[in-house]
Amino acid sequence: MDPSEVPPPLALVDVTKSFGSVRALRGLSLELRAGEIHALVGENGAGKSTLVKTIAGVHRPDTGQILSDGEPAVFAAPADAQRAGVAVIYQEPTLFPDLSVAENIFIGRQPRARLGTIDRARMRAETAEAFARLGVDIDPDRPANGLSIADQQLVEIAKALTRRARVLIMDEPTAALSGVEAERLFTVARTLRDAGSALLFISHRFDEVFSLCDRITVVRDGAFVSCDPTADLDVDTVVRRMVGREVTSLYPKEEAEHGDVVLEVEALTRTGVFADVSFSVRAGEIVALAGLVGAGRSEVVRAVFGVDRYDAGSVRVAGDPLPAGRPKASIRAGMALVPEDRRHQGLVMEESIGRNATSTRRRVLSRFGLLGARAEHAEARAWGERLNLKYGSLDDAVSTLSGGNQQKVVLAKWLSTEPRVLFIDEPTRGIDVGTKAEVHRLLSTLAGQGLAIVMVSSELPEVLGMADRVLVMHEGRITAELDRAQADEESVMYAATGQRPSEAA
Ligand SMILES: Nc1ncnc2c1ncn2[C@@H]1O[C@H](COP(=O)(O)OP(=O)(O)OP(=O)(O)O)[C@@H](O)[C@H]1O
Ligand SMILES: [Mg+2]
Repeated sequence: MDPSEVPPPLALVDVTKSFGSVRALRGLSLELRAGEIHALVGENGAGKSTLVKTIAGVHRPDTGQILSDGEPAVFAAPADAQRAGVAVIYQEPTLFPDLSVAENIFIGRQPRARLGTIDRARMRAETAEAFARLGVDIDPDRPANGLSIADQQLVEIAKALTRRARVLIMDEPTAALSGVEAERLFTVARTLRDAGSALLFISHRFDEVFSLCDRITVVRDGAFVSCDPTADLDVDTVVRRMVGREVTSLYPKEEAEHGDVVLEVEALTRTGVFADVSFSVRAGEIVALAGLVGAGRSEVVRAVFGVDRYDAGSVRVAGDPLPAGRPKASIRAGMALVPEDRRHQGLVMEESIGRNATSTRRRVLSRFGLLGARAEHAEARAWGERLNLKYGSLDDAVSTLSGGNQQKVVLAKWLSTEPRVLFIDEPTRGIDVGTKAEVHRLLSTLAGQGLAIVMVSSELPEVLGMADRVLVMHEGRITAELDRAQADEESVMYAATGQRPSEAA
């Protein structure tokens, strides 16, 4: 039979979905074919996660159809989608920490032995078999507790395999993974594709989309824009379609006057995590901490700010010693920290967008009775415009925002405190390509106004494009300090892997 006559395992036809006045999906169609990895790309708030939740049975479409093997299907609950062979791998899976890997995989559907007891041997064997098919080495008997996010995702994929899922959906799976972990996930994805699964992959990283996916669907404002084989596309075309306009230079770093030293970190050590870290930052300067995931960059930032303790060393702000381990004192001294894990460390999900965006500033100013509800809204609205925030009403809960838009609220929350020193960890993670440029422009402007910025970034182009100075970390130590003119991809990568250029040749 001609393969084109086989109906795709899953398709959406003309699906719409609104939340109050927000039209999240406006007539979207999508076909997930067997043996294919399909990319879905679009700006923050374009409707990607809403589409995923519709396929997963979390949301019901207002109008339009879901076709399972060509037949109309109703996914009234996640169980319906699962029965139709759909599995969703979330960015941060929620395994039960105290259960073993195999128990997590079979939770709620443990195989029974003849006498009605749980057939542990079979659970273990099927888990091991699933891992073997994926080429993954995880012990089925170990507890889920302590598994990396990357491994937790692989456990979820193994679970999908044991359920005979044929449609696998991954919504920004690589956002919290290191490069090596992402590569391992891609190998697994290709294995599944070659075995005939249909995969949907969502990411804001175009290198991943282009190297992994067979076709790319672009959505804008909840509407379908295009779907083409990857081979017929290039990055510029995709970006233009996503954003609906040309995106100008991504790294609009402007020269800024460097003033006095505002931050001095001296011989900071946290045993077993980082050692002997010294650096200083001037007003108007952007210093990047580069290195591989796990090099200790976020840990240094957290210790300097006082979220974590340190064992030796000192921190000074504008010449004054900063007490260790006291974030409140850091905020009073004019420091702000935009954390890496924005969802857990940055926002109160059930509170409104407006309150979240201004919460830190309110704490600073309420003592003087300066920030009334109206001023709060005006300020939140101004930041919303600056950061291209997509929302219905500022009174809506922040949980109703798309992932990338939640990130922007955290940015607003800290930037609105008008700090002297800004620590920003992965400034554009999860943020779409158009807004990335806005965030970069904003950082450049703030530096121009005299802010001292310490930026942690795993994106080399971002480091090279934005930093006046690059400090490279490897295994908890600074292995290189490069100024803007010296820093290039090679020099940073060598230092990040602990090599010297001569060793690598
Ligand atoms: N439960 C909800 N209640 C209200 N509005 C919602 C809800 N879920 C999503 N929205 C809105 O629907 C739109 C689409 O959001 P969605 O999460 O699908 O975007 P996305 O494409 O996944 O974006 P991102 O790249 O930022 O993750 C947004 O405007 C969002 O605020
Ligand atoms: Mg999303």
